[in-house]
Amino acid sequence: MSKRIYVLLFILLCLCRFLPARAQEDIETRVEGILSTLTLRQKIGQMNQLNARKPDEKLYQQIRDGEVGSILNAEDPVLLNRLQQIAMEECNARVPLLFARDVIHGFKTIFPIPLGQAASFNPEIVEKGARVAALETSEKGIRWTFAPMMDISRDARWGRIAESFGEDTYLSGVMGMAMVRGFQGDDLADPTSIAACAKHFVAYGAVEGGRDYNVSYIPERQLRKTYLPPFERSIREAGCATLMTSFNSNDGIPPSANRFLLRDLLRDEWGFDGVVVSDWASVSMMIRQGFCEDRKDAARKSALAGLDMDMTSECFVDYLEELVREGDVPESVIDQAVRNILRLKFRLGLFSNPYTDLSKVSCMYAPAHLEAARQAAAESFVLLKNTGNLLPLSRDIRSVAVIGPLADAPHDQLGTWCFDGEKEMTRTPLQAIREQYGDQVTIHYAPGLAFSREQSVTGFDAAIEAAQQAEVILLFIGEESILSGEAHCLAGLDLVGAQAELVDAMKATGKPLVTIIMAGRPLTMGKQLAQSDALLYAWHPGTMGGPALAGMLWGETAPSGKLPVTFPAHVGQIPLYYNQERIGRPANRKELLLDQIPQEARQSSLGNTSYYLDAGFDPLFVFGYGLSYTTFTYSGLTLSREELSPEETLKVSVTLVNTGSREGTEVVQLYISDLYASVATPEKELKDFCRVTLKPGESRMVEFELPVENLSLWNIDMQRVIEPGKFDLMIGGNSRDVLKASFRVK
Ligand code: BGC
Repeated sequence: MSKRIYVLLFILLCLCRFLPARAQEDIETRVEGILSTLTLRQKIGQMNQLNARKPDEKLYQQIRDGEVGSILNAEDPVLLNRLQQIAMEECNARVPLLFARDVIHGFKTIFPIPLGQAASFNPEIVEKGARVAALETSEKGIRWTFAPMMDISRDARWGRIAESFGEDTYLSGVMGMAMVRGFQGDDLADPTSIAACAKHFVAYGAVEGGRDYNVSYIPERQLRKTYLPPFERSIREAGCATLMTSFNSNDGIPPSANRFLLRDLLRDEWGFDGVVVSDWASVSMMIRQGFCEDRKDAARKSALAGLDMDMTSECFVDYLEELVREGDVPESVIDQAVRNILRLKFRLGLFSNPYTDLSKVSCMYAPAHLEAARQAAAESFVLLKNTGNLLPLSRDIRSVAVIGPLADAPHDQLGTWCFDGEKEMTRTPLQAIREQYGDQVTIHYAPGLAFSREQSVTGFDAAIEAAQQAEVILLFIGEESILSGEAHCLAGLDLVGAQAELVDAMKATGKPLVTIIMAGRPLTMGKQLAQSDALLYAWHPGTMGGPALAGMLWGETAPSGKLPVTFPAHVGQIPLYYNQERIGRPANRKELLLDQIPQEARQSSLGNTSYYLDAGFDPLFVFGYGLSYTTFTYSGLTLSREELSPEETLKVSVTLVNTGSREGTEVVQLYISDLYASVATPEKELKDFCRVTLKPGESRMVEFELPVENLSLWNIDMQRVIEPGKFDLMIGGNSRDVLKASFRVK
């Protein structure tokens, strides 16, 4: 009897293993079936994505004629169902439309900006946030979003750094994959799953001068080493369903028409079988970029290169039919693109379930969603200074002054790229402090400035008076949400408006000063850091930023975030990132600065090292930096072996002790340095990290496993190999203060 059960179980297991392959085969058969029924015009229609405009007879007719495959930016489910009905019942192609929308860090419940989420070094909260976003987004009938953005961002002037996971390739890969998993869930066909889109392919974060839509010059080795891995991992390891090409031409070629990127690399090397969509009119933009003669040429070049869907430029729908008839684009190219699109629609279950269920109870702002957003916000905060353990605030404090333009700015704390988040639902720090601690402390509120860019100081008197009445000042400054994000770049990174003067005025009161910065990017705030007794970097924390901040200021939670990007001391130091390639004359702290050079000094090479006379070489804060309310020490770094071969795995352990008097969470970071190779390698590179929570006095042996294959590099012949040689391994709580040990690879 039991033997029979075992046999049955065995058969069941075999079937389960066989099922995904079978399902995929089924999808391929159905894709071919549909493809064979479509006219050339209808096939090209699938490759056309339109921006939702006011629905009119023209749009209905285009759908009826099979000239539209996807629509972005509509979010009324009644309208979406109506459009879908036209596609399914009034068009003889009978292919469902796919509705898309930018849901970058939340649909209604807004999570911290992605840069803030990256600071958590916690992929679980990123995945949870994307799951919440998927539940809320899919409720409207939208099944595709244009996130995660995984552009490596090393320039805080670029407004879109807010949408990124920062400067590090490994961290961006881990966080990008987590976001993909959250959006797509376990099964894309589940009506609550939405297809993710890895963007912007590629090197968009490297645009010159941090100016949006500009050019980049990233050569292939640097692409493969730094910019491509997050995309590759999100596709190969997390199954990201779609990908978006970027606006920037890289080394003279716009990615929307780059055959090497879209065919050789993406399809042949990585085996991607999802959809590649252009960015907004990036196809027709190639005319201005000097890469195409006209819209027809743009349609030809991008289709031949392997672009599947044209977002809004309508070059495909206007010209591809003609180009096929004239023999300039083979119909097989169209067929291949349409296969990718139909495959995605099958995977999303749209053929069997094209409509949105309007009778469902809404899950927008569900308590669990708000709680996840609060937790994500709390984990995103980075404590940068805490003199005399001013934070958390003592329970003996009876009065606080709440000052600054971001203390009660429900719109601005949501951050960039929020189409659907509502300020009426945002909980600000002022509200939360009143609700959570209003019965324990007297709150003196005076913003000083109405918004971050305000120049008028007429509100200062009231702010000074409020400060004078309080025991501690809580000063909320930074950037309005509109100062970062797409097309919002800055040449300077200092506080805008009269905020620096507001800090001066607060400092002059002599009261203990806690500064909380809400911003979409690193700001150069060295002076304000020096003036503050404590400084907490809160990014744009989203809907629940207020409760998360209040809870942290009063010590219900403790900071555990770490900087996902280097903070420059001076804007002129950019680009400044921790994993730069080794140079021959690194700065060594013996450098003379501007004021130290004697008058009429003779020509000399000074320190002969790489630095600025006026800004030195140190950043304000290094990558990975962040304090907690407790302290940690590292000791006893031990490697399992001194020499390994490429197929082996190095085991690493280190002892972490909580040496303070409060519980805390530390992000333990593991870096590698390849000391000699056939090509120059970075000073150090993050290879792993983990979060460890310890009670006061508790110690833990933290262990990592590092497969030697993770040390591969793109060698002088552009092959991915592991080169023998000596490596340093470093572990610490940031990228500078580390313990070091060495090993060799045979
Ligand atoms: C942005 C994309 C975005 C698209 C659709 C473009 O301007 O670059 O990131 O997904 O618009 O809204």
